[in-house]
Amino acid sequence: LTCERYPVRRLPFSVVSEEDLASFERIVPGRVVTDPEELEASNVDWLRTMRGCSKVLLKPRTTEEVSCILRYCHGRNLAVNPQGGNTGLVGGSVPVFDEVILSTALMNQVISFHSVSGTLVCQAGCVLEELSRYVEERGFVVPLDLGAKGSCHIGGNLATNAGGLRLLRYGSLRGTVLGLEAVLADGTVLNCLTSLRKDNTGYDLKQLFIGSEGTLGVITAVSILCPPKPGAVNVAFLESPFYVLVETSGSRAEHDAEKLGGFLDQALGSGLVTDGTLATDQRKVKMLWALRERITEALSRDGHVYKYDVSLPLDRLYDLVTDLRARLRPPAKHVVGYGHLGDGNLHLNVTAEAFSAPLLGDLEPYVYEWTAGQRGSVSAEHGVGFRKRGALGYSKPPEALQLMQQLKTLLDPKGILNPYKTLPVQA
Ligand code: FAD
Ligand code: MLT
Ligand code: ZN
Repeated sequence: LTCERYPVRRLPFSVVSEEDLASFERIVPGRVVTDPEELEASNVDWLRTMRGCSKVLLKPRTTEEVSCILRYCHGRNLAVNPQGGNTGLVGGSVPVFDEVILSTALMNQVISFHSVSGTLVCQAGCVLEELSRYVEERGFVVPLDLGAKGSCHIGGNLATNAGGLRLLRYGSLRGTVLGLEAVLADGTVLNCLTSLRKDNTGYDLKQLFIGSEGTLGVITAVSILCPPKPGAVNVAFLESPFYVLVETSGSRAEHDAEKLGGFLDQALGSGLVTDGTLATDQRKVKMLWALRERITEALSRDGHVYKYDVSLPLDRLYDLVTDLRARLRPPAKHVVGYGHLGDGNLHLNVTAEAFSAPLLGDLEPYVYEWTAGQRGSVSAEHGVGFRKRGALGYSKPPEALQLMQQLKTLLDPKGILNPYKTLPVQA
């Protein structure tokens, strides 16, 4: 078996047998999906450019069930693909071959919420938008927001260390996550689900799982610190020649409006900004944000999308876009740059009517070399998954890659968790 566009050989894992299916049925009765139509949605990624051929999807409800599944798969040498909302953009969320898909879709319970501290403890399969609604009704916000909020799971967010639209305001998940619970490849439950603000008892093990993309363990529960819901939100949408969306959030509307007004006067006065609009009411705020949040979806309507997600020094952020516009010829259609300016994160997207190997050859390794030349990162926030693992060496030294491999071997000696993903391609 080889993958169509990226040649890769299936590792010698076992193949799921009738007996395995019967065992799964005993562990998660009535939640073993083998219907090909139902499996299709979990075998294909959001961008619809990666397709696995898994024959079974399991839907545990509890940590104990996840533990039993992994213990079983470990014993049988069956490969496992953890899956949340399947909104990942680097091909990490779908199987490459016939890996067992372990979905967190039914692990969607809030465990506790502390109404004074804002600490939310929940299962990994909670959908981000639903969590947002839950904490907002209680006067708090989730410190993370992204366009995929309607589908992505909080466990998937941690597994990818998603950045998103609020990182500048509230910081990365590496700071706001207080604890987590994960199940290791052999079924061991690692309960680090504390809600303490301070805990220096040795290594901060939760950080290993944040951003590990399902290769070191399955995250089953999360403890996250939610900040108070801001009393006043202002959104400014400014133009020319770039579009910039600025959101301020504070506690006193008049004070915030005065500060933003001062900034806008200055920006308009200096000629930096030529036009724009302001919003404070919820409906207009949402509408302006939708312009930004739906770029991904809009691009996917333009044909095949070559997606790059790089960190660059701010003063060079857009140069890669102009450079590629000058270099690329058809079949490239559009070269588009957007992202998270405040985070130094550029989303470089190139579209074409259909996948073209020569165009890929024009883009890679050029984009990666360009990024490395600026000491940037070849994956700012989307992760490595299946697509970017050949590019890791552009942003990490060999010693770091070797240590990553050693950690993987320590935690998952048989390599059953999300094989073919995140770690560098082995020679
Ligand atoms: P999946 O796609 O299901 O999985 C992603 C990875 O995590 C896979 O490797 C999977 O194996 C692993 N995984 C999932 N759940 C678990 C678990 N419980 N335990 C262990 N491993 C697990 N990303 C950003 O960073 N910022 C953005 O602004 C952003 N915006 C997006 C907008 C759109 C429209 C779309 C489609 C995607 C966007 N993304 C963004 C990418 C994606 O939404 C994030 O990576 C998200 O965090 C993935 O969550 P998920 O539940 O869908 O995970
Ligand atoms: C975004 O910022 O919109 C997301 O990361 C998705 C994308 O890069 O298209
Ligand atoms: Zn983004």
